[in-house]
Amino acid sequence: MDSTLHFNRTKWKKRPNPPNCKTPLLTFFILLFCIVFFISSKSLFSTSILQISTNSKSDIPLQCTTTIGAGDSSENFLWYAPHSGFSNQLSEFKNAILMAAILNRTLIVPPVLDHHAVALGSCPKFRVLNANDLRFKVWNHSIELIIDRRYTSMADIIDLSSLISISAVKFIDFRVFVSMWCGVNINLVCSKDLSKHSSLHESLRQCGSLLSGLNGNVKNCLFASEEDCRMTVWTYQKDGEDGILDSFQPDDELKTKKKITFVRKRRDVHRTFGPGSEAGSASILAFGSLFTAPYKGSESHIDIHEAPQDQRIQSLIQKIEFIPFVPEIINCGKMFALQTIKAPFLCAQLRLLDGQFKNHWRATFRALKEKLDFLKEKGPLPIHVFVMTDLPMRNWTGTYLGDLEKDSDAFKLFILREGDKLVMDTAKKLVSGGRNAKFQPAVNSLDGGEKHCNPQSLSDILLFVEETVCSCARLGLVGTAGSTIAESIELMRKNSICSP
Ligand SMILES: *[C@@H]1O[C@H](CO)[C@@H](O)[C@H](O)[C@H]1NC(C)=O
Ligand SMILES: *[C@@H]1O[C@H](CO)[C@@H](O)[C@H](O)[C@H]1NC(C)=O
Ligand SMILES: *[C@@H]1O[C@H](CO)[C@@H](O)[C@H](O)[C@H]1NC(C)=O
Repeated sequence: MDSTLHFNRTKWKKRPNPPNCKTPLLTFFILLFCIVFFISSKSLFSTSILQISTNSKSDIPLQCTTTIGAGDSSENFLWYAPHSGFSNQLSEFKNAILMAAILNRTLIVPPVLDHHAVALGSCPKFRVLNANDLRFKVWNHSIELIIDRRYTSMADIIDLSSLISISAVKFIDFRVFVSMWCGVNINLVCSKDLSKHSSLHESLRQCGSLLSGLNGNVKNCLFASEEDCRMTVWTYQKDGEDGILDSFQPDDELKTKKKITFVRKRRDVHRTFGPGSEAGSASILAFGSLFTAPYKGSESHIDIHEAPQDQRIQSLIQKIEFIPFVPEIINCGKMFALQTIKAPFLCAQLRLLDGQFKNHWRATFRALKEKLDFLKEKGPLPIHVFVMTDLPMRNWTGTYLGDLEKDSDAFKLFILREGDKLVMDTAKKLVSGGRNAKFQPAVNSLDGGEKHCNPQSLSDILLFVEETVCSCARLGLVGTAGSTIAESIELMRKNSICSP
């Protein structure tokens, strides 16, 4: 129990018993004494309340005294900070599932974040946002998605049912967790009458700051990891590797130029954060970024690709290599291929505007041209091409795409837009809560029927439908080199999600 309460309880016990009343005069004095005592004890009582709720540094935060935070329930939780674009968020989500399984914690399922809402920085350049700040940004954005009524859970898009059915990992929706842990009704933050709920916003902000680790760790309650890709590569059950230096270190030039002091170590995540560690006894463990990518013969942050000594984790690793989109999205993509394109087609996935891809137009178009020239020779014409690109159609003039469009004898182009009926109808289905069977009831039961925060605008599912269409492309895929979207389509094709 919390130390403040203990302290006050002992104070209460020391309270002198009111003496018995024997004579009228004595009674008067005693009554007076009693009144004075009553008033002073009342003020004593109210300061004690104040002490608890002001969360002064030495006190245990309220959140850590609830059943969910106090460590007296057997359920422990894992939170982390997703960032960047969707493909990135998805690969972090998979790593989070893996970490949750290894550490036997319930994974807090985050929302899908807007593409440019949160950025990590660069691991190879040792220039990344520290974990606390990253987490608070993610928190802030997640709450804003709720307020804006644009919240889409990762579990609305990614089909977790096969993982849930084998009880590989336990999940909890971020909104449900926040409601319980922060002791707020999250469905009220969207209420029109903002002034009525400004204290709610403030307590949410405080709660987010605590959960992000900005106020430090709280024994048995919260452990906010500050490890990131500059210093740690996580491993699991790699004998003899725990604590050794990773092969990739900042080079001397970087060290002197940027005054970098980081040393990258390989560490066993179960030994570091599992049972017996400080983190292990905290009911909530918060990671920062869980993004990893191969770099110079090493992994930037997580190097767990197999677990031969742990059959449960080994089979989970295989299972999460590919997690499909929810059936609504897959059906939508299949339907477009079947009913609109109708013939065997090629998928051209052309990332042209975002980030590094701006400078690679020539190479990207060259690969497409080679493939189309080849198909043109083989026939039959026209060749059906599904184009998935971030370059708006009005800007195609003057590019290779413009040429293809003009050559309508040889090529028949197809694109999907966000406003297309098929896409809109599917997005509506997702919003109306057909999905998310595991979480939606809990989210909806948060308040007595008023669902202020249910999403109003449809989530942007175009990318996911496009990826599905591309996985149905029988003539092949021309992807953009280095694009995570291309990789994700390849994975879907390998798992033949389009076959009936
Ligand atoms: C995992 O945690 C659950 C509580 O959520 C507990 O009942 C179970 O014994 C734990 N399993 C292991 C292997 O530690
Ligand atoms: C998020 O951060 C911005 C900028 O600091 C702030 O104005 C906004 O109120 C925050 N939103 C929430 C929900 O905390
Ligand atoms: C696309 O075209 C619009 C005008 O229609 C122009 O303002 C915009 O800069 C173009 N974008 C690119 C990337 O060329």
